[in-house]
Amino acid sequence: MKDIIVIASGKGGTGKSTMAVGIGTALALSGCKVLLIDCDSGMRGLDIMLGITQNLVFDIADAVSGSCTVENTVYPCPGKKGLFLMPAPLNAYDEIAPQVLGQLVAGVADIFDYVLIDSPAGVGSGFDAAAFPANKGLVVVNTEPTSIRGGQNVAGKLRSLGIDDVRLIINRFNKRTFQKMGLYQDLDEIIDITALQLIGIVPEDYSLAAAIQSGKNSDDSCPAMRCMTKIAHRLQGYIEPLSIK
Ligand SMILES: Nc1ncnc2c1ncn2[C@@H]1O[C@H](COP(=O)(O)OP(=O)(O)O)[C@@H](O)[C@H]1O
Ligand SMILES: [Mg+2]
Repeated sequence: MKDIIVIASGKGGTGKSTMAVGIGTALALSGCKVLLIDCDSGMRGLDIMLGITQNLVFDIADAVSGSCTVENTVYPCPGKKGLFLMPAPLNAYDEIAPQVLGQLVAGVADIFDYVLIDSPAGVGSGFDAAAFPANKGLVVVNTEPTSIRGGQNVAGKLRSLGIDDVRLIINRFNKRTFQKMGLYQDLDEIIDITALQLIGIVPEDYSLAAAIQSGKNSDDSCPAMRCMTKIAHRLQGYIEPLSIK
């Protein structure tokens, strides 16, 4: 096992789940065995994004209640060799305690190269659970002040939980909109505000959003997927130059 990475953001809708699916798919394509854990109790969505909803029988709440083993909650993703999903409870009241998730993850982590944990938005109890097993964090922001403040808050919370290796993803970047809005001089300003090391900028890309939302494999050559592939390489320690388009 190399890393357990929590994907977080202060605000909802920044693209955490999209990043989990895209980066997880890219890591799996490069030969890694990857477990995606959906931690959004009551609002789970990774199963839809991976086209696997029909196959699901058990989720994390079943493993917690003892209705199944933790291995029973790990599902291979069709058409994505090396990628596996552990689905979140369907019901919001089935919240998972941090230590309990820690134990579940510890029970399966050794058979994976990477575990990516998709956190719910904010810094509530769902976030606490998602962050507990992690040794690294990815904070996803868009180029708007509310989203960036959320990123700052969540990064501070991750550090206070002892997770020091936290990187920034700027998602849904659209140069024209960014310049038209004129809220920031450049992307360096956003990076400085968050005080996080940048790991990648993912462009706004509706072909990727449509493919992922319909549970299909996204085209590897679409701009957002190319950027997420580079992020996956950087997570593996390879040097990939940054380019902003
Ligand atoms: N790079 C992108 N380009 C275009 N749309 C995106 C991109 N990333 C995410 N989206 C869209 O933004 C919305 C929120 O994404 P999602 O991954 O569900 O966010 P979160 O998990 O943070 O709530 C979805 O409609 C998704 O398709
Ligand atoms: Mg989500």
